[in-house]
Amino acid sequence: MKTALILNGPNLNLLGTREPTVYGTHTLDDVKALCDAACASHGFALDFRQSNHEGELVEWLHEAGRLQAAGQLAGVILNAGAYTHTSVALHDAIKGTGVTLIELHISNVHAREPFRHHSFISPAAKAVMAGFGVQGYALAVAGLAGLK
Ligand code: DQA
Repeated sequence: MKTALILNGPNLNLLGTREPTVYGTHTLDDVKALCDAACASHGFALDFRQSNHEGELVEWLHEAGRLQAAGQLAGVILNAGAYTHTSVALHDAIKGTGVTLIELHISNVHAREPFRHHSFISPAAKAVMAGFGVQGYALAVAGLAGLK
């Protein structure tokens, strides 16, 4: 059974109380439960993590690259939070490892402030999804299962 690695970046630990009109009222634990169910129905093992530190996310992407090369990982679903809009390091980590990655956002970043319209992740991602709320995580797991 391959693993789906779901990585969450800065401030996503605040889900539930953080700007509920934008992100909803589900907590990150709720999102993990939703991902557990989605992974179970698509035959993946789930590895679900959150970090507020850019370098830790970079190191997790390196680990993902090694696991995918070893045939143990289906790919990564990454909600990089605000690092989406700032991080050349995450862009380079995705490109440098060649890991299969789906970029995910809970909100529709393109309907928000202009500084959220640019993503350093998108050019290195296999697919991009935004605006489905936390349900997007389950949709992304289904999408990962459908990728060759
Ligand atoms: C986000 C959108 C980002 O612009 C923001 O910085 C986040 C969350 C989302 O899931 O909608 O932290 O990635």
